[in-house]
Amino acid sequence: MQALLSSDQIQSRVRTLAQEIKADHPDGVHFVCVLKGAFMFMSDLARAMDGEVTLDFMALSSYGSGTKSSGQVQVLKDLGTSIEGRDVVIIEDIVDTGLTLIYLQEILLARSPRTLRTACLLSKPARRKVNVKVEYIGFTIEDKFVVGYGLDYAERYRNLPYIGVVTS
Ligand code: IMP
Ligand code: MG
Repeated sequence: MQALLSSDQIQSRVRTLAQEIKADHPDGVHFVCVLKGAFMFMSDLARAMDGEVTLDFMALSSYGSGTKSSGQVQVLKDLGTSIEGRDVVIIEDIVDTGLTLIYLQEILLARSPRTLRTACLLSKPARRKVNVKVEYIGFTIEDKFVVGYGLDYAERYRNLPYIGVVTS
C-alpha cells in the first residue's frame, strides 16, 4: 500500500470543508451519507461542524468487487426521513464517472429539499462522463484506484485512517 493522503492531511481538509459548509448553511444542515464509502468522511465532517446537524443514510449499488463502474445505479437502502424543505448536503466518498452522483441528485431533488448541495472527499476528473455539480471537494486526485478512509477494494481497507493506492 502506497499512501496518497495522510490522516493529518485529511483531517485538516475536513475541518476546512466543515467551515465552508457551515458558512453556506447558517440555519443548520441535513447530511445524507452515501454508504458505505462515505461513513468515515461524514463522521469526521459532522464532528468538525458547529451548528445544527441532522443526518441520514442511503445505500446505492456500486462496483461489486471490481474497480470499473458499471454505470448502473440502484437504491439498496433509502432514507428513513423526509428531506422536504430541508437544507441537504449529500456526503459521498468519491466522484469518478459522476454517474452515481448525478442519479442521486436527481432522486433527491424530486423530493423537494430547500437546498441540495454535494460534498465529496475525492474527485477523479479524468474519468468524468457527466457534468455533475459538486460544491465541496476535499482533494482532486489522478486516475488511480484508491482505498482507505471508508473506500474499499472488494470490501477491504475501509478502516484505514489514510488514503492509499493498492500496489499489488
Ligand atoms: P461513479 O459513479 O463512477 O462516479 O462512481 C462513484 C462510486 O464508485 C464511489 O462512490 C465509490 O464507491 C466508487 N469508486 C470510484 N472510484 C473509486 C476508487 O478509486 N476507490 C474506491 N471506490 C471507488
Ligand atoms: Mg460511494
